[in-house]
Amino acid sequence: MMGGLRADELRPERSRTFAFGGLSPGLALVLALVLVQAGVSGVTALDNGLALTPTMGWLHWERFTCNVDCMEDPENCISEQLFMQMAELMVSEGWKDVGYEYVCIDDCWLAPQRDKDGRLQADPKRFPRGIRHLANYVHSKGLKLGIYQDVGTLTCAGYPGSFGYYDIDAETFADWGVDLLKFDGCYAKDLKSLVEGYKYMSYALNKTGRSILYSCEWPLYMRPYQQPNYTEIRQYCNHWRNYGDIFDSWSSVKNILAWTAFHQKSLVPAAGPGGWNDPDMLVIGNFGLSWDQQITQMALWAIMAAPLFMSNDLRNISPQSKALLQNKDVIAINQDPLGKQGYRLRKDEVFEVWQRPLSNLAWAVAVLNQREIGGPGTYTISTTDLGEGLGCAPACLITQILPVKKELGLYEWTSQLKVRVNPTGTVLLKLQTFQQDKFPVISP
Ligand code: GLA
Repeated sequence: MMGGLRADELRPERSRTFAFGGLSPGLALVLALVLVQAGVSGVTALDNGLALTPTMGWLHWERFTCNVDCMEDPENCISEQLFMQMAELMVSEGWKDVGYEYVCIDDCWLAPQRDKDGRLQADPKRFPRGIRHLANYVHSKGLKLGIYQDVGTLTCAGYPGSFGYYDIDAETFADWGVDLLKFDGCYAKDLKSLVEGYKYMSYALNKTGRSILYSCEWPLYMRPYQQPNYTEIRQYCNHWRNYGDIFDSWSSVKNILAWTAFHQKSLVPAAGPGGWNDPDMLVIGNFGLSWDQQITQMALWAIMAAPLFMSNDLRNISPQSKALLQNKDVIAINQDPLGKQGYRLRKDEVFEVWQRPLSNLAWAVAVLNQREIGGPGTYTISTTDLGEGLGCAPACLITQILPVKKELGLYEWTSQLKVRVNPTGTVLLKLQTFQQDKFPVISP
């Protein structure tokens, strides 16, 4: 089990100490006064009408990281060209049609210094026409633009952070036409400034009058010091990262699932329209996951009601991964309007069963085979155990969604359901419960 991990264990790539030395006491005092004057604690920032279902889009980090070397690697460096190409493909290759909407910039877009008025500026070589131009382009495609900043003095990669500049940065983003802010938590002085900073930025975004979706990492950075209060976090953020960064590997996906299941009692009730737990990006279509593992990520991210941010190269993706990411039945589960996050129902030596309640008395059920040896395994479960006893009461129609769509037929309350699941793969099912009065007449 994964309980009790420290942040530095969760995030092996970088030390997560609060490094905040450079801030003058005067600046800190000004921020504190501003926070008090702003009455931050009374703000219900989440009343922004956004993320009523989990956000869908593309985010550069996992695939393109902090590649700023446009001389050596012009096709893959963090530049306006990269985001323009992705935006174009999101429309021409059908991503937008199935719901992927936000094209998001992560860390490393910034120039090393603010301008003379204290405003952030994009790196002039890599974003020669500036973020406003990029936003206009993205909007012209019917898409939305996301950007990245940090609550502390520096971003995680060492670019200027927002501390001391929350209002001016929020206004700059609104001015540029930004639609989403991913707000990281590196280099905050202490827990207090971390929490106050996240709240303050939420307030500052609201104050701009522009609808800007607010993606936080508050609980991730808070947990080593104190249990996050999700009721509070929900009031300020549209989604929030709880666990360390995803990598392009099965062990990374597996750890995220294990951690989420271990903490599901506190995580699951926190999710709902307007605010979601964020288990990090989809790495489907990259290098590290086998086909079955890609299916597992897609299926479980749907069960977890996770924001779906692909981090892959849309210029170069296999038709198979593309079809999986564009699978309308899986996306419909992820986006289900009931807005309840699923959870792990049971786990034995080999199999895990997860389920998620859906609208119209339906359930999504995922059976994951954790074995990393041998061939497909058979799992049998009684339908009385599904859907909190009611999924198949008095009967249900079961459709297999992944790995391939197929009707499994009608099951009664006391039926046995049998599935075969590949190692590290998942079978994703949808159960449609029949209500008593709508029970279908089946001819003998
Ligand atoms: C942190 C975040 C990542 C990414 C990097 C950028 O590690 O958790 O998602 O934004 O910073 O430096």
